[in-house]
Amino acid sequence: MSPPIVRLETHMAKGKKIYEGKAKTLYEGPEPGTIVQYFKDDATAFNAVKKDVIDGKGALNNRFSEHFMLGLESIGIPTHFIKRLNMREQLVKRVEIIPLEVIVRNVVAGSMSKRLGIEEGTVLSRPIVEFSYKEDSLGDPLVAEEHILALEWATQRELDDIIAMALRVNDYLSGIMYGVGIKLIDFKIEIGRLTTDDYQQLVIADEISPDSCRLWDIKTNEKLDKDVFRRDLGSLTDAYSEVARRLGLLPKNTAQTAPKLVK
Ligand code: TMP
Repeated sequence: MSPPIVRLETHMAKGKKIYEGKAKTLYEGPEPGTIVQYFKDDATAFNAVKKDVIDGKGALNNRFSEHFMLGLESIGIPTHFIKRLNMREQLVKRVEIIPLEVIVRNVVAGSMSKRLGIEEGTVLSRPIVEFSYKEDSLGDPLVAEEHILALEWATQRELDDIIAMALRVNDYLSGIMYGVGIKLIDFKIEIGRLTTDDYQQLVIADEISPDSCRLWDIKTNEKLDKDVFRRDLGSLTDAYSEVARRLGLLPKNTAQTAPKLVK
């Protein structure tokens, strides 16, 4: 028998805590197969060696993630997102996370620049999709497709789908960002397996926010993402608020230090 339909209130009680990550906490949702994703203000870098609490970051990332996940859904890319519940929480579908960080790069930066000794800002002749094994104790090491297949983290068919989805997300996000004067340098997504009755589908899960992207101003190359925190380049709230204002998620005239969501 199917479970009774529960009306989803925006201030519904959360269930049991399922998992606490570095930037988010997951709770059981009100219906089977749902999760409440709570966005914390905590910022970490270098596998939590560097830590801080950034006032307002959780609320902004909750709103960013809602915006991008809805945008992806609108162009036919399935995600785990159901609805935003309040400033810090969103309701998502429960999925089985594939233990990979799927990274797409358009421009050399970060670990790729370090690993290969190529200057940050070098534009790639085509986007690269790369994978890290999601395991904090190992520092999320880079892995090849061969590792993923041999260790059965994903099937060949899933891997093909993951790459196609990642490139579609890249096209979507690059376009949105370009429209507001921002270059999408690279980003990370996570993919989940969503099981409904007897069939399984891959969906974009976790979050999409400036915590998991590199975003540079088109004209000045100013960094508007988590590198501001990683590299001590100034106020992370100011950088994220600037992105939110350009995307229309914050009113244009808000004071730089007090993020206030539009809706
Ligand atoms: P990287 O250059 O440090 O490998 O990062 C590539 C992209 O992945 C960048 O947009 C930041 C994002 N990222 C995460 O979202 N989480 C992480 O733990 C790391 C290391 C990177």
